[in-house]
Amino acid sequence: LVAGVDSSTQSTKIVVCDAATGEVVRTTRAPHPDGTEVDPQRWWEAYEQASGDGVLDGVSAIAVGGQQHGMVTLDEHDGVVRDALLWNDTRSAGAAADLTAELGGTAAWVDAVGLVLVPSFTVTKLRWFAQHEPELAARAARVVLPHDWLTGRILKQGNGFERWTTDRGDASGTGYWSAGTNDYRLDLLKTAFGRELEVPEVLAPSAAAGRTDSGMLVAAGTGDNMGAALGLTLSPGDVVVSLGTSGTVFTPHDSAIRDETGAIAGFADATGRHLPLMCTLNAARVLGAAATMIGVDLAELDRLALAADPGAGGLTLLPYLDGERTPDLPDATGTLSGLTRSNATPENLARAAVEGMLCNLVNGVDALRRHGVAVERVLLIGGAAASQAVREIAPGLFRAPVVVPAPGEYVGIGAARQAAWALSGEAAPPTWQLEVDSEYAVRSGQETAAAEVVARYQALVASTHGV
Ligand code: XUL
Repeated sequence: LVAGVDSSTQSTKIVVCDAATGEVVRTTRAPHPDGTEVDPQRWWEAYEQASGDGVLDGVSAIAVGGQQHGMVTLDEHDGVVRDALLWNDTRSAGAAADLTAELGGTAAWVDAVGLVLVPSFTVTKLRWFAQHEPELAARAARVVLPHDWLTGRILKQGNGFERWTTDRGDASGTGYWSAGTNDYRLDLLKTAFGRELEVPEVLAPSAAAGRTDSGMLVAAGTGDNMGAALGLTLSPGDVVVSLGTSGTVFTPHDSAIRDETGAIAGFADATGRHLPLMCTLNAARVLGAAATMIGVDLAELDRLALAADPGAGGLTLLPYLDGERTPDLPDATGTLSGLTRSNATPENLARAAVEGMLCNLVNGVDALRRHGVAVERVLLIGGAAASQAVREIAPGLFRAPVVVPAPGEYVGIGAARQAAWALSGEAAPPTWQLEVDSEYAVRSGQETAAAEVVARYQALVASTHGV
């Protein structure tokens, strides 16, 4: 058996799988506080809770998939210096703008590390920390990512800890490691923080970070999106749209994609290749907010959205409820436009919420197309993929058939697959099959109506935010 951990923004999940087939044997979950900064100790407590009661009995290898980008600073004794600032914390927007200007603009950052800086990326958080909390920052000796910290903590439970480690996928989201050159840019870290900090060793995709006292091998781990990509056993032409706390759009790719618009981040994946990705701050929770606003539950929201016509009677929702990252509008709020006395119905409001959430992600799918990705199918995962309205409305908007994998914890499954790979010593990860739950083709006539919805959405983004 092998296990994968998904240490996400809201909880820690552990998936135990058969190493040869990938069959899921058991899954556990423990919540931790939800927010934009958190004491890493809460991740450890959630891990301990989720792995209790013999959950890891018989497990030979484990790996951690974690929320990307979070800044975990450690002192010289490896104590946590301050609560981790997470991917969804936008306080470093000013630092992102300053750092961009200091290096000579967005193109310079894309050349250096494949990213246009937004406040999610770790390097911007380091600048904010140095500027706003200099006394605390003076205690920092090292910076690691959430998955690095939990991997190290699992090993530190016993005598297995040798050094702090990370992997290519998660390192590529820091802003001081380049997926193009496979190397750190510690000069950029120093520019951001004002002095040097220790960073983790970047392990090869199937390398081990160490072994626990019980003999369990601990693999390199990776970022959650890279973990999901590994868990979904993707082929070229597969584009994943993940509708969780964040919305992400990504695809496996042989080379690094260079996108100066900042829509696509040039991340690495967990197999030695690349994972061009777009991320939004607003996805599944947009549906929750719409349901609250209408005063119904999610099942009723679904029914209402499917009862309305495409285009929601002229209503358009820009779903920037938590600000937004792509487009880079950290201070934006949501906009509901086009209301009249005749279209102000719960059905249209529900439909506008689903269409608005999806249109935000259409931008990612289209950006990948602009970079030459032939989108053959969209794999829909994350909490909001359970929505029937989302499943039925998505193919027209994405202009591609939609496949919904069987419900599963794909980040955890991917981490488990990485653990199985590290255990096997083989050149490639084990072949696991993806189980599909349902497929949705683009229905005839659906694309034309959907194109109008997307055009109206984009016009509203342009007129409201100038982007
Ligand atoms: C991706 C990103 C998010 C987090 C959330 O760049 O910031 O998807 O990884 O878990």
